[in-house]
Amino acid sequence: MSIDRKTIVRRVLAVIRVLILIPVVASGALVSACFSDGSSDATEAVGSGYVDDARIINAPNAEPGSWLTYGQTYKEQRFSHLTQLTRDNVDELALAWTTEIGDNNMRMQGTPLVVDGVMYVTNGWSVVYALDAVDGEEIWRYDPEVDRSSVRLACCGPAHNRGVAVYQGKVYVGTFDGRLIAIDAATGEEVWDVDTWIPAGLGRFNVTGAPRGAAGKVYIGQGSSESGHRRGYVTAYDAETGEAEWRFFLVPGDPSKPFEHPEMEMAAQTWGGEWWKYGGGGTAWNSLVYDEEFNSLYIGVGNGAPWPREIRSPGGGDDLFLSTVVSVDVETGRMNWYYQTTPGDNWDYSSAMDITLGEIVLNGEMRRVLLQAPKNGFFYVLDREDGELLRAHAYTDGITWATHVDMETGRPVENPDVVYESDPQWILPANSGAHNWEPQSWDNEQGLMYFYYHDIPNFYSLDETFVNTGVYEIRERGLSLGWGEGEYRRRLEAQADPRPESKAFVGAFDPITGQYKWRHQLESLYNGGVLATTTGLVFQGEGTGNLVVRDSDTGEPIWSYDAQGTFGSSVMTYQIGDTQYVAVLMNGNRTIDLGGSVVVLKLDGEAALPTATAIEPAEVPEQPDDEYSEQLVTQGNELYHAQCASCHGGIGIPNEVAITAPELRLMTLDTHADFENIVINGARAERGMPDFEDALSSVQLEAIRAFIVTQARQLRENQ
Ligand code: HEC
Repeated sequence: MSIDRKTIVRRVLAVIRVLILIPVVASGALVSACFSDGSSDATEAVGSGYVDDARIINAPNAEPGSWLTYGQTYKEQRFSHLTQLTRDNVDELALAWTTEIGDNNMRMQGTPLVVDGVMYVTNGWSVVYALDAVDGEEIWRYDPEVDRSSVRLACCGPAHNRGVAVYQGKVYVGTFDGRLIAIDAATGEEVWDVDTWIPAGLGRFNVTGAPRGAAGKVYIGQGSSESGHRRGYVTAYDAETGEAEWRFFLVPGDPSKPFEHPEMEMAAQTWGGEWWKYGGGGTAWNSLVYDEEFNSLYIGVGNGAPWPREIRSPGGGDDLFLSTVVSVDVETGRMNWYYQTTPGDNWDYSSAMDITLGEIVLNGEMRRVLLQAPKNGFFYVLDREDGELLRAHAYTDGITWATHVDMETGRPVENPDVVYESDPQWILPANSGAHNWEPQSWDNEQGLMYFYYHDIPNFYSLDETFVNTGVYEIRERGLSLGWGEGEYRRRLEAQADPRPESKAFVGAFDPITGQYKWRHQLESLYNGGVLATTTGLVFQGEGTGNLVVRDSDTGEPIWSYDAQGTFGSSVMTYQIGDTQYVAVLMNGNRTIDLGGSVVVLKLDGEAALPTATAIEPAEVPEQPDDEYSEQLVTQGNELYHAQCASCHGGIGIPNEVAITAPELRLMTLDTHADFENIVINGARAERGMPDFEDALSSVQLEAIRAFIVTQARQLRENQ
């Protein structure tokens, strides 16, 4: 945290800007909301990020130029009513400013918030930045000094974070090592810091989702279902004091012990075997949406862990509340209703994807609805009042696990021909989902959801070989089955079951009819979320590194901007004075040594991107001349892809994961000499390389090295 004189001047200027804006806004609600903290110093209240429920509720009318919560407002529609940018002038967008906030291998998933002229944004290590939203100058920075060894809990590569909540004068961040921290919005000073981990939730975890603030409380769940024994829950903390007010578990614990709350007793009836020894999963790692109309919180619940129900819950049933949307009363912490999208989840079909609230006219009647496109491939429309299922259309042509959702029973009908336990096979959607966490944008007037999804198959199997060589057995703390490259590769070699083609799409979907108004294939399989505007624009950062603008009537691209990095996060927009800005976080780019950045555009912006210097592909250095048996190399191949590839990238197989760690074929002889120290003793834990002390025997370690060396020799020969 740092604050200087220039900062104070800038903050005073920001306050003046806001004071000038207020009369223009002509809304008593906004003004009273701004001053409703009882502070006698009105200036400070306005300038210090004072956001409360009334202000967020009134924002669509009172301050469409702000972005007050993760999903813009409580409804999380992410649809902009700002009008300066149009189809006619969007080609005049240019860089307003860019600020590096991460290193060159950092994946940026956050949505910036903009409140009273200040942008609040996080990097992968949960460091919070308050930036002047006009020029990107740093106002303060708060570093929670995340325990770097927490990367070992990460499901999918090193640190990432989706952003903050700004609420009642504070900024809240969930950290990669599992804490929830309140920071003074004005000064960047820490107010409180609580550990959200409790022993009843079994092992420790990462928090990557953005907290939400509402009804005087701050809500947070956790991630890491894949990396250990995890039992999901959501906690509501008093926003002022950080005291836990209630906790809602999402998976029942050991039934021989008292249930924490009545819903757990009910849920326990739906499980089999000794699930509590694994934990069961069910983490709420992303969507937590407050509904002021019902004073409820909708929790999007994640997948089961381990994935195969035969292992997790033998003889069980639906395994509540996995892959479910649960509505909880925010005052009592008791459940209002639930709807399970994937009963007895068997595929990692998380329902933690974004939840959007809206209104839809159905048979002449206005329905207050909740909209979600979870990983399983179906788009759900639920009544927010009681959870009634109104629609569940497939949003992708690529669904093989189920044939449809039966509207009578409200349940998906599993495809009897697609049973991986007895018949290992490619299944769609994959564990990465058709639609994942990348945000969606809802036009409530037109009843259209703009979002992106991908059809990427995953090879699912419970073969003995697969179980023994895949992630399941060898990665004790990793209970997933997804990265089964061993078996997958063998099948490819045998020319059996060719891998179905992978594709990604962005589209405008009508959840009532199940039809797309338009849908276009994307060049890249992994892309960022979507922002649509009332002026007919659809923004998306694509995996190609282009920020693309489409015409919302046709989906045709009308403009694009090459930002030099790749995108995973979503776009947001804000207005200060009479200038509209478009902001997006960009991943770091190690090929040109560009750090993870905030990129902000406006009409006729005059800033320039930093000059990128291409980094030459490195030559493979001399390799150790040890001899290895073929068997050892094969074993190393399996182990490498089970344990290391999620960060270091696949070798000799199509690579689907963003590489976030060094290419190990480029290790020098010195690094080889230090191999055990790095991998087993955690010599680089501080820098994001987890220690594998309890996960690899010395023979296994040598097998991995043998595989890497063999591959490096081949690469070296070809250079
Ligand atoms: C959670 C992500 C992650 C996983 C999983 C992971 N690593 Fe790493 N590894 C890293 C990062 C990040 C670095 C870079 C650390 C640094 O800056 O020194 C690294 C560095 C290394 C290095 C040093 C490389 C060099 O050239 O300096 C070795 C060796 C290594 N890892 C081996 C392994 C092995 C073997 C496995 C699997 C058993 C593995 N890693 C799994 C993230 C990971």
